[in-house]
Amino acid sequence: RRIFFSVSTSTAQTGSTDRIRSAAFRQRVVSAEDAVKFIHPGDTVAISGFASAGTPKETIPALATRIGQARTAGTDFAINLLTGASVSTSTERLLAEVDGIALRMPYQSEPTARSRINSGSMDYVDIHLSHVAQQVWLGYYGNVDIAIVEVSGITETGELIPSASVGNNKTWLDVAEKVILEVNSGIPSHIEGMHDIYYGTALPPNRKPIQITQVDDRIGQPTFRVDPDKVVAVVRTHAPDSGSPVTAPDAVSQAIADHVLDFFAHEVRAGRLPADSLLPLQAGIGNVANAVLGGLDKGGYRGLTCYTEVIQDGMLHLIKEGIVTHASTTALALSDAGFEDLQANIDFYHDRIILRPQEISNHPEVVRRLGTIAMNGMLEADIYGNVNSTHVMGTKIMNGIGGSGDFARNGYVSMFLSPSTTRKGTISAIVPMVPHVDHTEHDVQVVVTEHGLADLRSLSPRKRARIIIDKCAHPDYRPILDDYFLRAQAATGAGQTPHLLDEAFSFHQRYLRTGTMM
Ligand code: COA
Repeated sequence: RRIFFSVSTSTAQTGSTDRIRSAAFRQRVVSAEDAVKFIHPGDTVAISGFASAGTPKETIPALATRIGQARTAGTDFAINLLTGASVSTSTERLLAEVDGIALRMPYQSEPTARSRINSGSMDYVDIHLSHVAQQVWLGYYGNVDIAIVEVSGITETGELIPSASVGNNKTWLDVAEKVILEVNSGIPSHIEGMHDIYYGTALPPNRKPIQITQVDDRIGQPTFRVDPDKVVAVVRTHAPDSGSPVTAPDAVSQAIADHVLDFFAHEVRAGRLPADSLLPLQAGIGNVANAVLGGLDKGGYRGLTCYTEVIQDGMLHLIKEGIVTHASTTALALSDAGFEDLQANIDFYHDRIILRPQEISNHPEVVRRLGTIAMNGMLEADIYGNVNSTHVMGTKIMNGIGGSGDFARNGYVSMFLSPSTTRKGTISAIVPMVPHVDHTEHDVQVVVTEHGLADLRSLSPRKRARIIIDKCAHPDYRPILDDYFLRAQAATGAGQTPHLLDEAFSFHQRYLRTGTMM
């Protein structure tokens, strides 16, 4: 099945050092338009990309064009799309707009795709990010027909130098029947060596311990392997990753960050966290998590580490300031300014950031062993501490669970953060019962809003409800939450976790009926 192409279409290649150091791979260079001719209706296509980093820049837009043209000509053309997590939103939008995605897995955050999912025209399977590789190996998604993987270079011996995210690329390259490589010379060449690609994972009963005991432990190799016989096309690009916009921390996210910092100081005093370095931090994606990281430079810490799945600008800043010494991740999800900073100071960041496959960055065994402090965003929590991270009003998908479950269940401390209200105060983040549960009360130890922090550890459900209402709910919503909780406790047969089942979703029903939960 090896196919050679003799004509290089490169216009993008810059500088004297060719990123494709292998002559055999140079012979396979084609245009993106020619590369996507290998993709057929109904194919399962696994692509690189995690957050804003590492999405193939030319091949996916070319695929969207091909699908759009086929549809205009009357051919029903859609693919099943597997990724690391979300991919570049501008890219995902192109595929969604031409109705090119039949099935999407495992995470998205793009408005057009989201509306297709919520209208029922696109299937979406939302799963823990650490589970993806195993589920694909086990064939839950059938054969992977083709992988499209961005790399920053190809060595003389045909090893692949990863780009700014690793995600599931190792798995895609291993399982796909055909491979298209997109070699992006817009990624700084000095990124080479920042990756740690572990090839020791296996399926039970042959699984071995993952030998990471420190954030900066390296257990793999810096490159991906690929069977050259599977590589049907190589596309050259010279395109930087497009940054994810980050809004500057506002008063609300700053207040949330302050509560988190107070909590860390409390845990240090209690002897549960080391004073200077705490334990490895994980912070989810989103504005609130970014603000919390930004706030850590006020805490007087030194020698912090991170074991996480995305590095946002807030963390890059901490590394630059010397507050964080090492960060392990699977992707760099930076703003344009963040990518510029990384590029300008790549030698500085090189030995301080390790990029790993997401099955390792999110591995439950490692997260548990390191004692990771998990901090993730949520849409809402109920008065007993069950958390909904994904479904607006219980039915409409927002993004997906992503890695939050990998870290929340296995973290040393599991924290969920959110403003107490959204949409101009019409939605309360604290509700009687969440209409969709991503993180059960058993996985949620601390809930934080701008009004306060509820430490739920060691508390029974009734005590949790009291503290969540008093500390976290917006003052405008406290009276109606109190009213619900008091009547639920007084009801006949109130039980361990009192609820009024015919009213448990009354906040959501009221919002849908009147436009406010109030
Ligand atoms: N009901 C309806 N909408 C809600 C809501 C609720 N209870 N809570 C928040 N929202 C909306 C906000 O209004 C906002 O909408 P907008 O973008 O139209 O303004 C949006 O959700 C984001 O809310 P924000 O308060 O800015 O928080 P965030 O950027 O921190 O994101 C999540 C919060 C829950 C959406 C985000 O953390 C997430 O997707 N989490 C799941 C995945 C995850 O945790 N991954 C972690 C590992 S990376």
